[in-house]
Amino acid sequence: MKIKSTARLLGITTVALLALTGCAGTTPSEGDGAAETVEIRLSLNQTEEHPNYLALTSFADEVREKTDGRVDVQIFPNAVLGAQQESVQLVGSGAVDAASISGTQMNNLNEDFAVLDMPLVFDSEAHQMKAINDPAITGDLFKSLESSNKLTIVGAYTQGARSVYNSQNPVETPADLAGVKVRVQESELHVSMLTAMGGSPAPMAFGEVYTALQSGVIDGAENNSVSYVTEKHYEVAPYFSYTRHLIGADFLVLNSDVFNSLSDEDQQIVSTAFLNSVDEFMSIWDAQSAEAVKTAEAAGSTFNEVDADAFRAVLEPMVDDVLDTDDKKALYDAIRAAA
Ligand code: GCU
Repeated sequence: MKIKSTARLLGITTVALLALTGCAGTTPSEGDGAAETVEIRLSLNQTEEHPNYLALTSFADEVREKTDGRVDVQIFPNAVLGAQQESVQLVGSGAVDAASISGTQMNNLNEDFAVLDMPLVFDSEAHQMKAINDPAITGDLFKSLESSNKLTIVGAYTQGARSVYNSQNPVETPADLAGVKVRVQESELHVSMLTAMGGSPAPMAFGEVYTALQSGVIDGAENNSVSYVTEKHYEVAPYFSYTRHLIGADFLVLNSDVFNSLSDEDQQIVSTAFLNSVDEFMSIWDAQSAEAVKTAEAAGSTFNEVDADAFRAVLEPMVDDVLDTDDKKALYDAIRAAA
């Protein structure tokens, strides 16, 4: 957080950011009596073309407009402020104010998030968005990391259905993944998921996947068609197989001290602006998902349907494994009731 007229806070944040970005810069200052502007620096691991960047830009515009410039969200794309696993720690420590964080990383901090990050919980992206952004369902969960980790969750965008792609062959059944090294997001849950699907999981950061595919360190990865194209993975892993094993989510996470420093009115503006951006996100998402398939096909990639029943059969036991507490079961039931 940078409060333009508060030198001490500004100094701390600037030093932290200089260390992170390696950029040189000077501390902007304003004269006495200048209106205070809280700058929120938001870390994103996607490109400027990705729906998250575009929708977060609209969110930032609405926040700036409705707060008359009191809150200024600045988005730093392309993981320049760190990969997600580091970013979520940096947001907790206050070195970075906000980040877009995959549910997989949230689940590493509070296992209850696993319910939102496992196979077979959401029927569709619409069901997911309705359930995840409903305070009656996720309100307590979104506040659960405030005292322990200083993380406040404002809401979530969908990652769509994630599928497997690789450099070797089309995948139709779990048996086709035998011996195939597939990158997963860094969490035990996803390692177990990919193992259940028949492959060999290789956890690593998102930004390392292209080079790892290109050099043959891994054979494949799993993601949505949008990231498959924005990250150019189709160039090095041309077989995309619609396993649709998981509908993931990206959470907008703010440092709790930063969020709580805002007036009640400005907190409300931030929350509402995010919810307003979800609809725009969804229309960009739908358009880009279809466009991504065309782009990859034009470059020679193939997309194939899989034996969905066979994948469902190997993934179903995960649901019971994850639902090992009453809290998780209650959350799961509330989500299913919203289907
Ligand atoms: C998607 C998701 C990101 C996530 C990435 C990954 O692109 O939107 O938040 O980091 O998948 O696989 O790591």
